[in-house]
Amino acid sequence: MLEIKNLTKAFNTGTENEATIFKGFNFQINKGECTGILGANGCGKSTLFNIISGVLVQDEGDIILNGENINKLKENERARFIGRVHQDPSMGVSPSLTILENISLSDKKCQRFGLRKLINKNKIEFYREILKTLDLGLENKLDTQVKFLSGGQRQSLSLLMATMNKPQLLLLDEHTAALDPKTSHLIMEKTRELIADNGITTMMISHNVRDAIKYSDRIVMLDKGKVILDVNNANITEKELLNIYNSRNSGLVFQEAV
Ligand SMILES: Nc1ncnc2c1ncn2[C@@H]1O[C@H](COP(=O)(O)OP(=O)(O)O)[C@@H](O)[C@H]1O
Ligand SMILES: [Mg+2]
Repeated sequence: MLEIKNLTKAFNTGTENEATIFKGFNFQINKGECTGILGANGCGKSTLFNIISGVLVQDEGDIILNGENINKLKENERARFIGRVHQDPSMGVSPSLTILENISLSDKKCQRFGLRKLINKNKIEFYREILKTLDLGLENKLDTQVKFLSGGQRQSLSLLMATMNKPQLLLLDEHTAALDPKTSHLIMEKTRELIADNGITTMMISHNVRDAIKYSDRIVMLDKGKVILDVNNANITEKELLNIYNSRNSGLVFQEAV
């Protein structure tokens, strides 16, 4: 359902800092699956998400979603059918806006023809209902500015906003990495529930091997712009995956890159 064809991307081209992140990279994501993406720091995972979501433009190659080439669509146009949650809890939300304003904004960006007013009063009850499913009491804090929420509450809200309009593709970029283990577990469980309830095709970057195995259907490991492992999660143990991951995350990778 997502096809990446012949992708090439370099940064600082023509300078001494030139770095080729992808060169002729091909990849496919299957509909309805959650694909866990692992790989050493700096190997290009977030760059891949930035290209898929239209934040960065590739040098060459095609991004095809459900048979449609989306190369020419801008980030805001892609946001109508691609949801994203970042690692940093302050990135997916606007801290100075209220919970209601944040949800309304996110809802609105998915509509082709926006209403003149930000808040659609007819939808407030619906927002309350979906907030209730988070079990955090946020449905009673609609007028609270998001800056007063904890990191876990913000990530829950980001996740809800990214999935509320049932995106064709959900991109999770280490979305629990900034949270304590207990909150991280809660968010992962909520993630699983939202993905399953809505049948959302998901790519989940994780640095946590255990979470990747537990919550993904397929595990992909990237290294230097290439897929070095691509397995069904049932066909690999945590120990095996950790061994491969650690061998690629060793100092060698970074020595070569410097
Ligand atoms: N906008 C950018 N400009 C220049 N270099 C970048 C930019 N974004 C990422 N990079 C570089 O590309 C490499 C891959 O980064 P990134 O995709 O963020 O890695 P990962 O998410 O796998 O840790 C890094 O060396 C990073 O410094
Ligand atoms: Mg990253």
